[in-house]
Amino acid sequence: MTKTKIGVIGTGSISDVYLSSPQKFLNYEIAGVADINVERAQEQAEKHQIPFSGSVSELLEKEDIELVVNLTIPAAHKEVSIKALQAGKHVYSEKPLATTCNDGLLVMEEARRLGLHVGTAPDTFLGAGLQTCRALLDQGVIGEPVGASAFMLGRGPESWHPNPEFFYKQGAGPLFDLGPYYLTALISLLGPVSQVASMNRVTVPEREITSEPFAGTKIKVEVPTYVSSLLQFSTGISASFITSFDVWDTKLPKIEIYGTKGTLLVPDPNEFNGPVYFMNNETTGWQEADLVSSYTDNCRGIGLADMLRGIKEGRPYLCSGDLGLHVLEVMEAILESSDKKRFLELETNCRRPERLTGFQYQD
Ligand SMILES: NC(=O)c1ccc[n+]([C@@H]2O[C@H](COP(=O)([O-])OP(=O)(O)OC[C@H]3O[C@@H](n4cnc5c(N)ncnc54)[C@H](O)[C@@H]3O)[C@@H](O)[C@H]2O)c1
Repeated sequence: MTKTKIGVIGTGSISDVYLSSPQKFLNYEIAGVADINVERAQEQAEKHQIPFSGSVSELLEKEDIELVVNLTIPAAHKEVSIKALQAGKHVYSEKPLATTCNDGLLVMEEARRLGLHVGTAPDTFLGAGLQTCRALLDQGVIGEPVGASAFMLGRGPESWHPNPEFFYKQGAGPLFDLGPYYLTALISLLGPVSQVASMNRVTVPEREITSEPFAGTKIKVEVPTYVSSLLQFSTGISASFITSFDVWDTKLPKIEIYGTKGTLLVPDPNEFNGPVYFMNNETTGWQEADLVSSYTDNCRGIGLADMLRGIKEGRPYLCSGDLGLHVLEVMEAILESSDKKRFLELETNCRRPERLTGFQYQD
């Protein structure tokens, strides 16, 4: 199989998993890495035996690189993605696609103008857990969906992330940072969203980093940290969705889907694994479902591998830029709805991604 040569821009915390992903997915190899911190790029290149490291512009000059994976911080996503497109590369961006819907649209328009492709993370909905949920829904195991609830409740990343400031700036916060996993999962299970409403607030305006190396540094919180929302899907069903960095602990599920015949308990959409539980009018209590695939470990890169396969075969890929843009508009509208104190209708739409099929993977 010919491997597509890709370049990675942004060699921070999440880069290790991407830089080791070609061991699992056979249709690409990493030809180079870049970062504004060139030393960090060099360290990662040495660690993962990648032949090239350097500045962003040096990487973009490399003609053999066909696609750039954008692993920079959210505030840099638009600029880096557009630079890569203008250098003639397809882009696969970590979430969110950009920090505003308008910027996300600019990225997508530039790709269309140049005849290039944009794909977006998260790809966790292609993992064994969420694909099993999708299969159960398609089989009608809980009947027709009537509603859903989703909860991303935690204490924020300042106790574990080495450089957590960006989590409290525009383009992050509990909704923009972890919301993409939940919203992408919900859209894959229930289809696109048509309108939203919400109530939000900043609970603690200044937070202290407790992880090293910045322990003791204060962060000015610029985004709501308790976001309580209602989503209506194009099919007419609704979901309650809360994201927060203000919650010490919870026993609530991550996601539940309610159907005319039963209930589906969806695993953490930030993970690839199960377990998946369901109950219906024919079961005695809850049953654990058999998982439909072996993609249970941290398979980040599966969406990229599917995108490259899609480009090659001339068919839609599952982690599409349109899906990322729709998720971005949903999140932006959630925040705006609270400010405007009214329901907001969405303007973007996307295909409900198909189920993942026929994939080559090294266990
Ligand atoms: N850390 C995680 O667990 C995790 C998980 C999934 C997704 N993500 C997403 O991945 C992205 C990166 O997250 P991270 O945790 O690795 O962040 P990080 O801060 O650890 O790393 C970001 C890297 O991007 C570089 N960078 C910033 N601006 C740049 C620019 N303009 N040009 C080139 N390089 C630039 C920084 O120097 C840094 O090395 C974010 O979008 C985040 O939402 C992170």
